[in-house]
Amino acid sequence: MAAPPSHHTHRVIGIIFGPPGSGKGTQAARLENELHVKHLSTGEILRAEVARDTPVGKQVKRIMAAGDLVPDDLIVDIVRRRLPEAEEGTGVLLDGFPRTVAQADSLDEMLTGEGHAVDFVLALTVPEDELVDRILRRAALEGRPDDTREAVAERMREYRKLTAAVLDHYRKRGVRIEEVDGTGTPDQVFDRISAHLSS
Ligand code: AP5
Ligand code: MG
Repeated sequence: MAAPPSHHTHRVIGIIFGPPGSGKGTQAARLENELHVKHLSTGEILRAEVARDTPVGKQVKRIMAAGDLVPDDLIVDIVRRRLPEAEEGTGVLLDGFPRTVAQADSLDEMLTGEGHAVDFVLALTVPEDELVDRILRRAALEGRPDDTREAVAERMREYRKLTAAVLDHYRKRGVRIEEVDGTGTPDQVFDRISAHLSS
């Protein structure tokens, strides 16, 4: 009797990481098709809560517009609720989370609880003046409330103060980190990412 096909159900847990405007959302949307992973963006989830004026939305609206980080426990609760479903297919690509070392610790705990771990961190690097240019260009097109010059400056401060350390957290734990040059066209960046992930 032929053995049934083996469905090895290892789920990929990836993190797309980088400062505001580095292209996390743009590249994650493409990688969603390429890697067959679910793109989970905490920024998008929060913006949807604000748009629907939910209790969470009311709580985070002003914090986000100012460019500050929302409280760790609030965002960890959101991810904890969504992760199991997002992980169902072949895996998940987290965008905008974890953003503090405390969030990274919580994520590690959640994953360990289900026998999983972070497989890779894809870190996009882009010089700060280009980040600001990109975001201010988008401001003219889309009017995201946190795309003002002041809020962008605060987002960059929060990134340097609290988020940059997340990369060291994973480096110390021996997680695969792929640093990819995020400059050039979105196509060029995507090709670089694909080359890194397939090698
Ligand atoms: P979030 O939504 O995560 O925003 P962000 O990290 O500030 O980054 P962006 O979404 O602006 O940029 P991106 O890296 O996704 O780049 P994109 O592809 O859009 O978070 C927003 C807020 O939510 C936070 O400030 C905080 O308040 C809250 N929040 C979310 N998660 C949280 C958490 N875990 N903890 C606490 N608070 C949290 O590209 C940017 C622009 O450039 C676009 O217009 C794009 O079209 C363009 N672009 C992309 N690639 C290129 C390219 N190669 N060349 C030219 N232009 C490009
Ligand atoms: Mg984004």
